[in-house]
Amino acid sequence: MPRVTLPTAPVPTVQAAALAAVNVRHSFGELTVLHGVSLRVAAGEVVAVTGPSGSGKSTLLHLLGGLDVPQEGEVWWAGERADTQDTQARATRRAGRVGLVFQHHYLLEDLNVLDNVRVPALLSGQDGTERARELLARVGLAGREKALPGVLSGGERQRVAVARALASRPAVVLADEPTGSLDRVNADMVAALLIDLARENQAGVLLVTHDERLAARADRTLHLLDGRMVEGG
Ligand SMILES: Nc1ncnc2c1ncn2[C@@H]1O[C@H](COP(=O)(O)OP(=O)(O)O)[C@@H](O)[C@H]1O
Ligand SMILES: [Mg+2]
Repeated sequence: MPRVTLPTAPVPTVQAAALAAVNVRHSFGELTVLHGVSLRVAAGEVVAVTGPSGSGKSTLLHLLGGLDVPQEGEVWWAGERADTQDTQARATRRAGRVGLVFQHHYLLEDLNVLDNVRVPALLSGQDGTERARELLARVGLAGREKALPGVLSGGERQRVAVARALASRPAVVLADEPTGSLDRVNADMVAALLIDLARENQAGVLLVTHDERLAARADRTLHLLDGRMVEGG
């Protein structure tokens, strides 16, 4: 029998990747949390990151999302360096390029659902109403545009967070245990929406998860152990 091997997707260069980290090192005081992490995520690719508690997953996601700057190494979003020390410049670059989903959806409690999803558009000087309505319909929240986050269930809030993360059609989507606070049914629904919408948008997705079922939906899994990345899965 001839052996059939499926072609593996070519690894993009750092500049061509949706998301790349090059030798990222980071410490908190004496504690070195990341010891030179490198990774590349292609456009349209979904990569899961697993690892024990304390292995540096959230720290890595913060650095990849430009919420903090690595002490050493580089972060790239769609061919552009993200790791500038200028906080304002970083926020501006992030606005149209990166969508973030955390375990505890940071929704703005005084804004209704529609406006929460419009925030990324408003920050980049656009209206965003049409895209927000379309995304809310996709996540099953048509008709809830005027609701304040406080009246929503945990699963509904997380679906709003997913819609918001995709609103500006970002090249990069980063999710830190996005389903960690949800029951199984809601977790599966949120995970499926996040992955489907990101793939449709050709975003590169990096998602941190403890949930093996969620990791199984990814194209590839990376393991973080004591601040070092090991390929797997
Ligand atoms: N802001 C911080 N200041 C000091 N130590 C931190 C800070 N953030 C994280 N750490 C430490 O860095 C290590 C990795 O944390 P984290 O990235 O949250 O891991 P994970 O998400 O994999 O559980 C832990 O030992 C944690 O205590
Ligand atoms: Mg964490």
